[in-house]
Amino acid sequence: MQSKMIAMSKIISGFSKLTKEEKINWLATTYFENQPEIIKTIKQYWNSDTSLQELHDDFTENTISNFYMPYSLAPNFIINDRDYVIPMVIEESSVVAAASLVAKFWSTRGGFKAEVLSTSKTGQVHFMYEGDKKELERYFTTTKKSLWTATSSITKNMEKRGGGIKHIELIDKTETLAHYYQLHVTFETVDSMGANFINSCLEAIANEFKNDEIEIVMSILSNYVPECLVRAEVSCKIDDLGGENPKKFANKFYQAVQIAAVEPYRAVTHNKGIMNGIDAVVLATGNDFRAVESGAHAYASKSGSYTSLTHCEINNGVFKFWIEIPLALGTIGGLTSLHPMAKLSLDILQKPTAKELMMIIATAGLAQNFAALRALTTKGIQHGHMKMHLQNMLNQYNATKEEKLIIKAYFKDKTVSHSAFVKRIQFLRKKEQSWVDFLKEDVLRGYLSKLDEHSRPIFGKMNPQQMIEHLSLVLQIANGNMKVDIFVSDEKAARRKPFLDSEMELTPGFKAAFLPEEPTPTKFANIEEAIDDLIHQIHQFTSVYEKEPTRTIVHPFFGNLNYEYWKKFQVKHFTNHFKQFELI
Ligand code: MEV
Repeated sequence: MQSKMIAMSKIISGFSKLTKEEKINWLATTYFENQPEIIKTIKQYWNSDTSLQELHDDFTENTISNFYMPYSLAPNFIINDRDYVIPMVIEESSVVAAASLVAKFWSTRGGFKAEVLSTSKTGQVHFMYEGDKKELERYFTTTKKSLWTATSSITKNMEKRGGGIKHIELIDKTETLAHYYQLHVTFETVDSMGANFINSCLEAIANEFKNDEIEIVMSILSNYVPECLVRAEVSCKIDDLGGENPKKFANKFYQAVQIAAVEPYRAVTHNKGIMNGIDAVVLATGNDFRAVESGAHAYASKSGSYTSLTHCEINNGVFKFWIEIPLALGTIGGLTSLHPMAKLSLDILQKPTAKELMMIIATAGLAQNFAALRALTTKGIQHGHMKMHLQNMLNQYNATKEEKLIIKAYFKDKTVSHSAFVKRIQFLRKKEQSWVDFLKEDVLRGYLSKLDEHSRPIFGKMNPQQMIEHLSLVLQIANGNMKVDIFVSDEKAARRKPFLDSEMELTPGFKAAFLPEEPTPTKFANIEEAIDDLIHQIHQFTSVYEKEPTRTIVHPFFGNLNYEYWKKFQVKHFTNHFKQFELI
């Protein structure tokens, strides 16, 4: 027996022949010591509709589950005077919100204008030839016709739709690589992305073209499609850009685009922002985002140095911002008809042709870039990002509705960071619920002594003195010294009152209907006087009900309450406002 442990090999043969269950079990035992959670996680994303699940399984190989991505809508786009709501598949927070905001912004400034500049796609047969170049050219001229004929069965249907092969050229590349030539073939694929069509044509051409002296290396489409180009644009008078200083905004925006034009480090991030919008719609419509990505970045480098895909101009008081980008897309065939959600996206976009989809997607990219540059050149990008980041962290920590309210209110005017968030939620969760015993004057004064005029609430708009005077005012209602003209039906009261018996707290930031939108101006000269009045109102509260124990007074939300229930309410009310100022 060997003394050393031999690590079990993780190499497997015939994996693709295992059933889905067997593949999952193999994964769990080989890489996760058979942890049951692994299997649970994988299976919880299975679709209960088995035929739908099978459809997705068959898109690719060795499928064991599905991977969710959010499917969102960006409304309010106007493109060439037509309204659109754009479906987007993207996991990055802020992208959809930004697209929607920018769409709305431009909807009142003439909308987006877009046009397709060209629609050709390219494929190449790469081959090696060591003989005489003139001989090759003669051979090409004589066989050219048969190259077309060799593809006729493939191109027949495409030609009926107005597409097909446009040109076949022989190109000498021997200056860059010895003996290297190519057949450079141009295609029109109309509404289909056409990858299979192009590759089939190329293979048929190569097969026809090869001979003893021509060694075919490969035949494949190119994802560089500078002749499949679309342009989208927005423009308006600078004054119509709005904001405090539209001229300054336009100039800074222009500078930001110029920086991306000359500085590759910036251009890459600038274009990444554009691709946030583009990829999201490309994915939603079942198109190939890797093809679009590689083609777009190659186009951004066509001058020899990497530059911006968008451009900006300020002329005679008019601001103009546009994008020019190659987009090889399809609206028929491939995943566009197979994936029910891709089909839905195309239906949402009103069944566009490939050309229309090019214009829609270029617009989404332009809108995204406008949003990013507007944020970057004004209040910075983190502001919006952090709000969404906070939401993600709250979800990650399974925050309750109430925790969400408290934490969002807390971070309203504070910098969100992961550590600050964790500290806050731990603080919230650590504490046992402690109710304020408002009838104990010393306890109350102890809490309130922590307040001064600089104390700020974590939710709501009241300052500390307004909060104390607000507590007094509600006590006056309970004391019968203040009438509120609000009717609470018996049915509503019966529904609401059990809350007062519960352990639940009042919702932070909840404002009763009888209270004004803005906090009432303070009545007393300072916090100390306001505290004295509060204590006075509490004494009144106990004495009126002691004198008349059967007395009931209408609460503006909970309806008719006796002393017992008014006390229950006051405990919750004091607790809520003491938390508002972090006194407990
Ligand atoms: C983030 O996904 C995209 C941005 O960085 C784009 C940009 O900087 O223009 C905000």
